[in-house]
Amino acid sequence: MSIRRVGVLGAGLMGSGIAEVCAKAGYETRVREVSDELVKKGMGRIESSLGKAVEKGKLAAADRDAAGKRLSSTTKLEDLADCDLVIEAIVENLDVKKETYAALDRICGPAAIFCSNTSSLTITEMSSATERADRFAGLHFFNPVPVMKLVEVVRTISTSDATAEAVFAFAKSLGKEPIRTHDNSGFIVNRLLVPYLLDAVRALEDGVGSREDIDKGMELGCGHPMGPLKLLDFVGLDTTYAIAEIMFDEYREKRFAPPPLLKRMVLAGRYGRKSGRGFYEYGG
Ligand code: CAA
Ligand code: NAD
Repeated sequence: MSIRRVGVLGAGLMGSGIAEVCAKAGYETRVREVSDELVKKGMGRIESSLGKAVEKGKLAAADRDAAGKRLSSTTKLEDLADCDLVIEAIVENLDVKKETYAALDRICGPAAIFCSNTSSLTITEMSSATERADRFAGLHFFNPVPVMKLVEVVRTISTSDATAEAVFAFAKSLGKEPIRTHDNSGFIVNRLLVPYLLDAVRALEDGVGSREDIDKGMELGCGHPMGPLKLLDFVGLDTTYAIAEIMFDEYREKRFAPPPLLKRMVLAGRYGRKSGRGFYEYGG
């Protein structure tokens, strides 16, 4: 299976990072968003991230320009027709994802591989919306995508050996360190990380400490680069809430249940960094 053209669905926090690393690794990369405004915002995020890498001396200006030339954007799903691999990073909502995959399945060639960047939804159910369950896998990146080395390669019971190997090799070609896992909600990392993040919200609710002290505790006491409340703001409280609901539904275990405070923050529009306010406030 030879992969040359990559389609990326969604240019939010994750989709823009995924498109950036694909273009940097030499793939012709086309990003699809739902509106011109969101295309512009996503492409702007990629441009600024590539610019910062040049400023910091991590990327040569010529390589930034070459990556820029390999990147294109669209609002039309049909423009992904010639992609060899499509990586989906749209909202964490099963119905929206299934609807998108069903439409994409009719558009892309039969050999194209589909991968979801979902954090917690079942890949098997998404693949059931297509006629290519054998060419369907999970490719779970971590935020911020250009920095985090890990990618989880997720197989379903229908994923073929050839697809799993092609996706694993693709992740390596991006300079990432892939690990293999199965289609269980949250895979390896979120199965461990999400209950910890939710517990931090419960600790705040219970008045165990201030937001600063809870974060400082885990940063200085355990060497984490970010405390849990900062990390929640970074991941997005709306996304984390959706993930927790999905994992709770799958496992029916209290540790995955979203705490009331998290729900109220989402209802109040406090999504974290992306909306300017979460557990902390962000300027600009
Ligand atoms: N894009 C590109 N590069 C970025 C970046 C971004 N958005 N944010 C930071 N960086 C780079 C910086 O340029 C810098 O590079 P150099 O060291 O080469 O100069 C490096 O990352 C460190 O950045 P800073 O010095 O500005 O800040 P920092 O030291 O505080 O690190 C961080 C920032 C890398 C984000 C670090 O705080 C960290 O690792 N945080 C934890 C992130 C994490 O746990 N991610 C997983 C989230 S869970 C998930 O993704 C799964 C899911 O399904 C929800
Ligand atoms: P986000 O809200 O930043 O971006 C999602 C984007 O998808 C939005 O820009 C939205 O306009 C777009 N979108 C919605 N419907 C679409 C469609 N039909 N076609 C194309 N674009 C569409 O969310 P995000 O944080 O980037 O998360 C995206 C996916 O990645 C989710 O499945 C999430 O669980 C997963 N994920 C998130 C993180 C994280 O730290 N935020 C980490 C790993 C995986």
